[in-house]
Amino acid sequence: MPETTTDTSSNGFEPRIVAFFCNWCTYLAADLAGTSRMKYAPNARVIRVMCSGRVDPQFVLEALANGADGVLIGGCHPGDCHYQEGNYKALRRFKLLQRMVADLGVEEERLRLEWISAAEADRVRVVMDEMTDQLRRLGPFRHEEAVMAIAAQQPQEVPV
Ligand code: FES
Repeated sequence: MPETTTDTSSNGFEPRIVAFFCNWCTYLAADLAGTSRMKYAPNARVIRVMCSGRVDPQFVLEALANGADGVLIGGCHPGDCHYQEGNYKALRRFKLLQRMVADLGVEEERLRLEWISAAEADRVRVVMDEMTDQLRRLGPFRHEEAVMAIAAQQPQEVPV
C-alpha cells in the first residue's frame, strides 16, 4: 500500500473518496506509487475494475448515496483501452452523470475522470491530493437522499 499524507488543516473534515481504477492502467499506477513510496492523501478507497467502461453510473450514484464525498474514475488513455472502446464508453457515461448530478446542485468537482497509464504513478499522487483538497474545501456531501432517488430510478443497464 502507498505511503500516505494527512492534511487536516481545514476544519478537520476528511473527505471519503471512492476510486474505481482500471486493472490495466490506473490500478497499476497506484500500485507503483505505493512501491515507489510516494506519499499522497489516504482518503480514497480503491476498487479495481477490469476496465473504466465497467463502471456503471449506478456504482457512482450508490457510492455517493452511501457516504462518499466524491468519486474518482481512472482509466487507460484514449486508444489504450484493453477492450478497445471501454474508456470511450466511460467518458460518455461520465458526461451523462455530470449532467444528472448537476441538476441536483452537486458540485462538479465531486466527480472526476482521469486517464492514467500504468507508468504514471506521480499522476495518481497529484490527482489524489488535488481531489482531496477540493473536497475538503467543498465539505461533506449533503445530497444523499436526492442521489438515492435518482439511483432508484435508473435502469440496471444505462444505454450509452
Ligand atoms: S482496459 Fe483500461 S480503460 Fe479499458
